Amino acid sequence: MLKVGFVGWRGMVGSVLMQRMQEDGDFDGIEPVFFTTSQVGKPGPDIGVDVPPLKDATDIDELKALDVVVTCQGGDYTKQVYGDLRGAAWKGYWIDAASTLRMADEATIVLDPVNRGVIDAQLAKGAKTFAGGNCTVSLMLMGLGGLFEADLIEWMTSMTYQAASGSGAKHMRELLNQMGSLRDSVAGELSDPSSAILDIDRKVTAAMRSGDFPTDNFGAPLAGSLLPWIDTKLDNGQSKEEWKGSVETNKILGLDNNPIPIDGICVRIGAMRSHSQAFTIKLKKDVPLDEIEDRLAKHNEWVKVIANDKDATIDGLTPAAVTGTMQVPVGRLRKLAMGGEYLSAFSVGDQLLWGAAEPLKRMLKILRE
Ligand code: HSE
Repeated sequence: MLKVGFVGWRGMVGSVLMQRMQEDGDFDGIEPVFFTTSQVGKPGPDIGVDVPPLKDATDIDELKALDVVVTCQGGDYTKQVYGDLRGAAWKGYWIDAASTLRMADEATIVLDPVNRGVIDAQLAKGAKTFAGGNCTVSLMLMGLGGLFEADLIEWMTSMTYQAASGSGAKHMRELLNQMGSLRDSVAGELSDPSSAILDIDRKVTAAMRSGDFPTDNFGAPLAGSLLPWIDTKLDNGQSKEEWKGSVETNKILGLDNNPIPIDGICVRIGAMRSHSQAFTIKLKKDVPLDEIEDRLAKHNEWVKVIANDKDATIDGLTPAAVTGTMQVPVGRLRKLAMGGEYLSAFSVGDQLLWGAAEPLKRMLKILRE
């Protein structure tokens, strides 16, 4: 029975992972051990099977006793522990939600409905280190997998609309506090149907720009606004989030030697936990739209093609509709005015499910096959 250590299981991604594993009975048939950075010796979580008291997540000897480490603890933990653990000749499997190791040669980025072949080839070569991909990348590939699989994409732009959860739990709370603060600033005017909308707008804008508007986490207003920059700046002017769109996609698909150009602008918006993306896709040939829809729909059991009409779109292709579900709807599919080889598409997906926890959960199951 595999002895599996969980680190960072209490955080947002870790909690979603625990919930999904319990839903699917994934703790049956493994020996789970829970680790902590602050509460060594306290009781482990109630997951329906007996677990030992919490162990120290930085204790290399305890970690060395495991067959698998699954960590959602974050990049700093990976940097602190991974090198020492491998240096201590540990030969177990490391499954990581953080980006730290993703582009390392020894690491395979996992998204098995899209790259099961790559994962199997790496396992056959003895690979032991696996990382979940960037959330926008994983969600894009789950939605557009059918086009990549058929090698139909010459290049692509992805313009993102990323939810607050991608920045973390504190950011989600701050977004809600910002929303509440805006509403509170005009509560009187809103209750009076005859109040002037331009007065409301002026007061809301003043509230947003005031020194006491809650911006400690985002550094700027997000509610009622947006932030067209995510993560740090690279020398070429891309944000790191934009860079990941290309390098991670091509690594997941095993196309490092013949990469598909992918670029765009990543934007934070006031959604809670579902990321959306608008794509412009240059196809290698003028493929009929019904064939495209068919390929997309058949690629995996979670993608859902949404008809390109208004009612279907606002019913099914929004964060409000998708959050908390495993579905990755893809819609707004039409040929662009530039010609038959130019396709538009729009996708939405829960950033904590397929964007984070699910690929790790599934990798652990692959190890048990
Ligand atoms: N980097 C992503 C974001 C989240 O900021 O939305 C995790 O992949």
